[in-house]
Amino acid sequence: MLQTIIAGHHLPVCLYNASGAMCTTKSDLGLLADSHAGAVLTKSCTLAYRNGNPKPRYHETAIGSINSMGIPNLGYEVYAQTALEHHQKYPPKPYFVSVSGMSINENLEILAKLNQTEQIAAIELNLSCPNLPGKPQVAYDFPQTERMLDAVFDVYQKPLGIKLPPYFDLVHFEQIATILNQYPLHFVTCVNSIGNGLVIDWQTETSVIKPKGGLGGIGGDYIKPTALANVRVFSQLLRPSIAVIGCGGVKSGSDAFEHILCGATAVQIGTQLMKEGTDCFARIATELQQIMQQKGYTNINDFKGKLKTIE
Ligand code: DHB
Repeated sequence: MLQTIIAGHHLPVCLYNASGAMCTTKSDLGLLADSHAGAVLTKSCTLAYRNGNPKPRYHETAIGSINSMGIPNLGYEVYAQTALEHHQKYPPKPYFVSVSGMSINENLEILAKLNQTEQIAAIELNLSCPNLPGKPQVAYDFPQTERMLDAVFDVYQKPLGIKLPPYFDLVHFEQIATILNQYPLHFVTCVNSIGNGLVIDWQTETSVIKPKGGLGGIGGDYIKPTALANVRVFSQLLRPSIAVIGCGGVKSGSDAFEHILCGATAVQIGTQLMKEGTDCFARIATELQQIMQQKGYTNINDFKGKLKTIE
């Protein structure tokens, strides 16, 4: 009932983790593989191991989260190696790798290496990390995004999608969609955290995370309306062969339902996975299934993208 297809790969359940949430270590990836998630996606990786930003760098509030992790990760080789082990143990569950090199050349080098690992179902190229001091989010710089995608598709022919930041202006949606429609992308994931928010503790009069003077990416309930708008508008503007994967503020079956109604082909879970652990997948899947049963839907395509607006 909840199955879907991403980049030619069948997912038994249209829910999986957002990159960054519980997917950095081999043991995290094992827990995701063992869970009810329909796929596994790794932490964004770089060429070499990174420690990331100083702690505290992640903080939860009652209705969301703020993070400035700084891409702590084990280096791409570990995630390629884990793909082999994953494939032996869980052959039907697609394993996706998120890539976030520090430059075009670093991304090209990682992709050239990952090209050789058949067990990687697809790459999610991250063009939207907000947490590197001095490094702008690539996908807010349209000429840089074009240079990146030109270079990537010159060397990489296997299934690839990109993770976008949230956009807020309709002109920007149109401009970036026109660029993206030129490339053989399999999917876009909308959205990354809303960059450079600030959560503070008024009692101690202090920011809750340390890096960048307390600024960090915002996730959770705060971002669901922005995420839904991005899913909706990109599913209208992109070529139909580019699937939109929804991400942002999903903590229940109805949230996932809303993302699909706006056009999502699959839905990722970040903050809620951090809060609840991998049990969130089975719970949200059950809730989504119940909503579908009540409405008489048997497949997500029965309502995908069919949001009604008021005339
Ligand atoms: C990090 C945060 C992101 O939002 C992202 O897309 C990649 C990395 C991080 O700080 O580690």
